[in-house]
This record gives sequence, structure tokens and C-alpha cells, in this order.
Amino acid sequence: MKFFVDTADLGDIRDMAAAGMVDGVTTNPSLIAKSGRPFLAAIADICALVDGPVSAEVAATDHETMLAEGRRLAAIAPNVAVKVPLTVDGLRTCRVLADEGVTVNVTLCFSPQQALLAARAGAGFISPFIGRLDDLGQDGIGLVRDICEIYRAHDSISTHVLAASIRGPLHIVEAARAGAHAATVPPQILRALYRHPLTDAGLETFLTDWRQTGQSILDVSEAAD
Ligand code: E4P
Repeated sequence: MKFFVDTADLGDIRDMAAAGMVDGVTTNPSLIAKSGRPFLAAIADICALVDGPVSAEVAATDHETMLAEGRRLAAIAPNVAVKVPLTVDGLRTCRVLADEGVTVNVTLCFSPQQALLAARAGAGFISPFIGRLDDLGQDGIGLVRDICEIYRAHDSISTHVLAASIRGPLHIVEAARAGAHAATVPPQILRALYRHPLTDAGLETFLTDWRQTGQSILDVSEAAD
């Protein structure tokens, strides 16, 4: 499963990319507002850092304006994935952009039937929102599982499932188990994936024991012994 980072913060993206953790980036209007940066410049900067898909979301709600915005965003860089909401106008826009060769990420998906419509509209990615469903006491991972199962049952569907609204490491594990192609994850949760207290404790013991040997792996004078 691929890891996308869910942020518009260039510092975080740079850090995560250096750690080999970034297959793509997703932004949304809230994340752009939080970054405090001009939208188009922020997307251009992210695209210069990351080779994989960088999602940039339209702000209009009517088809004509969404399409104009989507074309403008797609022109920023070849790896821009235009994000449209799962509305009638969003899906119309998805169809046109997909036919023009633009990758489209259909966002705000909360049901399997919506995911079927997005696939029909030629979406490159469908983004089911796990955490926001869980917040309502519904089964976010169950939605990812359903969509993956439905998509797998139809060879004609090439839309990738991008698990979104991830709230913790377990969501990532469960999304991977369900068969999601990718998960988009906030930087602080990506960092948490590395951590385990037994890793820290085990490493501490190994280093203490190693220091007692008095050896250095890089000390070439001892290499021949
Ligand atoms: C990604 O595409 C979504 O915009 C994001 O995952 C939403 O996450 P949230 O529900 O934590 O805002």
C-alpha cells in the first residue's frame, strides 16, 4: 500500500520525503488555509518536491467553474491530481477531466454507491473518509472494505482506493488489510508508525552491550583481525 501525506506543509513533506515515506500528497481547502500560503504556489512547490500524485481541490460547486479550476490546477504540473467533491457536478467534471487525461481524485466519499459512481466517472482515486464516519459512530473501515471488494469484483474498474481521514495507526493497518491501494496520512501519524517501546528498549540494550565490547565497526585498523 502506498503512503500519501495529508498536508500542505512543505517542511513536513520534505521531512517525510527524506524518510522515504511519501508516494504522494493530498491537500484540501482546510489544509491550504492552515498553511497560510497562496494555493497555486503551494501546489507548485509540493509538486517540485514529490514525484507522485499531488491532490489539489477545486473550490467551485458548479460544473463549468469546477472544470475551469480543474484545468488551471492540472496545468501546474503533470503530477497534479485534481480533487473534486462527490456531487453531481463533481462527477461531471471528473468525467471531462479524465477524458482529457487528467488524474482525478473524487473526495468526500461516504458510501459504496458513491464509490461506484466515481469509478463510472473515470476517477483515478476514490477517497473514502474513515475518521469522519467513525466520528458518527459508523464503520469507516467497513466502507473501505466494501469499496475494495466491489472494485475487485469488476475488472473494468481501475480507480484506486485512497483511504482518507485517517485518525491513527490502526486505521492504516486496517485499510491495508482491506486492500486499499493507498492511505493519506497526517504527518504526525506517519511519524507514529515508526514507534514501538520494545524497539526503543531493545536498541538501548544492544547499544549498552556493544559499548562494552570497546569495538568500532568503522575502525579500519581492526578490520583484519
Ligand atoms: C484527504 O484527502 C482528506 O482531505 C483528509 O484525509 C480529511 O481528513 P480529516 O477528516 O481528518 O479532515
